[in-house]
This record gives sequence, structure tokens and C-alpha cells, in this order.
Amino acid sequence: MVHLISGKTSLRNGGLRNEKTGRDRGDCMDIKFVGTMAVINDTQNPFQDQRALTEVELFLEELQPGLLVKAGDTGDFYGISHFDKNPARANHMQEDLNSVKRMNNRQRKILSNSRMIDLDGNHEDRLRRYLWSKAPALASLDCLTIDGLYGLSDNDIEHVDYEEGVTINGIFTVLHGDLIRPHSGYTAKGMFEKHGGSGMHGHTHRGGCHLRRDRSGVYGWWENFCLCDLNPDWMRNPNWQQGFSLVHFTKDRFWVEPIPVINRKFMYGGRIYGSGGKKRSV
Ligand SMILES: [Fe+2]
Ligand SMILES: [Fe+2]
Repeated sequence: MVHLISGKTSLRNGGLRNEKTGRDRGDCMDIKFVGTMAVINDTQNPFQDQRALTEVELFLEELQPGLLVKAGDTGDFYGISHFDKNPARANHMQEDLNSVKRMNNRQRKILSNSRMIDLDGNHEDRLRRYLWSKAPALASLDCLTIDGLYGLSDNDIEHVDYEEGVTINGIFTVLHGDLIRPHSGYTAKGMFEKHGGSGMHGHTHRGGCHLRRDRSGVYGWWENFCLCDLNPDWMRNPNWQQGFSLVHFTKDRFWVEPIPVINRKFMYGGRIYGSGGKKRSV
């Protein structure tokens, strides 16, 4: 599926300045980019579907996108969730974070020349909420940041705070998202209604899109699947789909290619990728 969309978007709303990034709270990271961007999200480590993720990483290694955006909920932060927790899983925070670090190390190794940007999702925001509510005196510690805990700077991965997002060439915004609607495409419509313009988001763990043409142009928002285990222990038979997307940019246009992963296989350019779940030795 290939779409050609054009339009302008702006999420600027001003507010508190982030000393590290120099951006006001709520401001997008604005970048210029020509080439292919890959977007993955909602791996929810350590609850990632490692076999599906391995197939995607093998594909990305072959494709060598110029930009990889990880659109949030990279780690689950299960241990500091306010939901009921399985006591056997609740105190594994360091192991859980090591899983994210291993993934970042691995992706930097296979994409040594790619720009990488990591966006916080609501699961990363659990850390801020926990610190602010339970241990505010520790909230300023450098070692208790997503950057430090995920090994982002160590892997030359740029970091964007929750719901600030990244806007490419002024026409396409990637966010984690903070809306959930029950059917594929409905949340994409909600994101269009909330933000306008065009973009892509995670959070719903579903694939889908919403397109709109009006007097000022053609716009689209895409929901970008997930790459986590489809059978989490806190929910039965969720309506989730795995996948990822490629977005190709020229100076003033973009084309979106959503790639659903079904039973650890997917198709791109007429070729089938994936082992179908068989173990690989990589
Ligand atoms: Fe998620
Ligand atoms: Fe989320």
C-alpha cells in the first residue's frame, strides 16, 4: 500500500523549556530528512515478540533506512505500573531495562549509519509519574532518566519526551499517541482530529489509517501496529496487530508503506520475509 500525501503540521504550544534539548515542553523536534524512515514501536520489552522483532531487524539490516524512529513504549516499566502486578514479574526492573539496552545495542550495530530517535510513550512516562509521586527528591538524578536507563546516548540515539514528537520536513509528525479507540483506523482519525496535518502514532497496538482531503490538501494519520507479545498475561485475546512502517521522504512529499507482520512473516516489494516463527541462530 503506497500513499502520496502533502500538508503542513505544527504542534507548537510553548511552555516549560527542557534544558537538555532546548525545546519548550510540548514542542516537536523538527528535522529535515530525505530518504527512508523506518518506524517501530510498542515492543514493551521485556514483553517484545523477540522472533517477530528479529525478522524486522534482519529486514532493516538489509534495507539500511537513513532514519529509525522508535515511537514509544519501548520498555514496559511493569514494575512501577499502578495496575495489579503478577508478583513473580514485579521486581525485575534491571533485567527488563537490560532487555531494552540489548535491543538498542543490537540495532545500533546493524544500522551503524542511521540516525536514530527514541520517543517516550506512556510506559516510559510511568518513570516520571512514579518519581514525581513517590520519590520527588530523586527526580533530578541523571541516572534515573530514560536516556541513562535505555543507554540512548551510548548508542547515539536521540531522545524526545512524551508526546513532544518529531516532525519531518514540516509535513509529517511521529508521536507515541495518547488516544485509544476500539477499532483499527478510529484512533488514527482521532489523532487527525486532535493534531491536524499528517503523521503516525503507536500506542493502540493496531494498524490502520485515516485519510482526509479538504481545500487545503490531502492528509493522513497512520496507526503503527506493535511488536510485542500478542498474548500478555494481563489481557485475553487483545485486538492487536504486529507490524512496522516505512515512510519515504523527498523534500516536500512523503509516501507511507505500512507492513503488517502476520505469524512472523511479512511481504515487502513482492518478497516474503520472515521465518514464520521458526528459531533462527542469530
Ligand atoms: Fe504500548
Ligand atoms: Fe502506549
